[in-house]
Amino acid sequence: MSTLPDVDALRQSFPALAQTVYGKPLIYLDNGATTQKPLSVINRLKQYYKAENANIHRGVHYLSQLSTDAFEKARASVAAHINARQKHEIIFTRGTTEAINLIAHSFAQHLNKNAPKVLITAMEHHSNLVPWQQWVLQNGGRLMVAGLKPDGSLNMEHFEALLEEQPDIVAITHVSNVLGTVNPVKAITSIAHARGIPVLVDGAQAIAHMPVDIQDIDCDFYVFSGHKAYGPMGVGVLYGKEVWLDRLPPYQFGGEMVDRVSFDTTTFNELPFKFEAGTPNVGAVLALETALSFIRKTGYEAIAAHEHNLTSYGHQLLSRVEDIEFYGTAPGKEAVISFNIKGIHPYDLGTLLDKMGIAVRTGHHCAQPLMDHLGIPGTVRASMAVYNTLNEMERLAEAVNKAAMMLR
Ligand code: ALA
Repeated sequence: MSTLPDVDALRQSFPALAQTVYGKPLIYLDNGATTQKPLSVINRLKQYYKAENANIHRGVHYLSQLSTDAFEKARASVAAHINARQKHEIIFTRGTTEAINLIAHSFAQHLNKNAPKVLITAMEHHSNLVPWQQWVLQNGGRLMVAGLKPDGSLNMEHFEALLEEQPDIVAITHVSNVLGTVNPVKAITSIAHARGIPVLVDGAQAIAHMPVDIQDIDCDFYVFSGHKAYGPMGVGVLYGKEVWLDRLPPYQFGGEMVDRVSFDTTTFNELPFKFEAGTPNVGAVLALETALSFIRKTGYEAIAAHEHNLTSYGHQLLSRVEDIEFYGTAPGKEAVISFNIKGIHPYDLGTLLDKMGIAVRTGHHCAQPLMDHLGIPGTVRASMAVYNTLNEMERLAEAVNKAAMMLR
């Protein structure tokens, strides 16, 4: 049996959770959009701007050296967190979206091919869909979309059939932000690699909830954001296998990513700097390191055990609400509950929940094609984090019931 985290103690270190909204204690269930931040992360940012702020990799002066050392130490720490072989396989970006755009752009340039094919799934977030779609559209190619089963899990037979058509790359989410489905990314990577096809995994909804071992998954690229994992906004991680990062051309040009520049030509810097043009968000990178350390201290096993309890208890309570319909019931799903109540628009339900102090997300969740696939305009989504409580799930279910009665 896994040890559960001490949630009451954990909550003390999240000041945002202690507030009231509309006079009601805040119940924050929009963690799929962004998590709240622990004091350690807030203090790390403060400390950086109070005492360490200087541009990195540039100055000989004390502060520049201090911030450069801290930044490179953070890179090594992120690499260790996901068990990357080498720290220069970690590129800091503004977030998941920028990381995927980087790969889509550089991969397209590298391939330089007419009629490219990209294999994604029907559960992708717009950020792992539109960059690939735009590339294939501009080059007469095809976006291949693997379908889903009724419980929201990936239809592997369909996926494998599409793989036989030899796409140029597979881009797949680790965890669906709407359905909570956890995709078998290790098995997917293995079957794609057997056909010589590289794999990008979007880990935005995974990194806060489950351990990620890059060498075990063996994917070619793995991306995630800091802000969905208790870290700050404006920072993300692109992991890429050295062999790929070496062969892909740079994404943006400017300072830091160059080796030698003349008016005639430019040679580029080595990894990882080749992909880090301009001044990075140094403070956010340092605070991201602190956020990942918060996760490790809490323990993935404890986080997962607690969040799975929250999810199954939430499902159990909400299933008593009349006319409720759930989206995403795959075994082992992550801490997300998406639902609708027949005859009630998700936006109306979400608005009433908000007035009761409960923060959920409503709408298409940046996954419009998935909504089309499900034949609905949107859902109400409760997405949990380690600091949520079983009592909050009870209050969510009560509030949904009450709101549904008011709206019927
Ligand atoms: N991708 C984030 C979400 O699912 C914004 O809410």
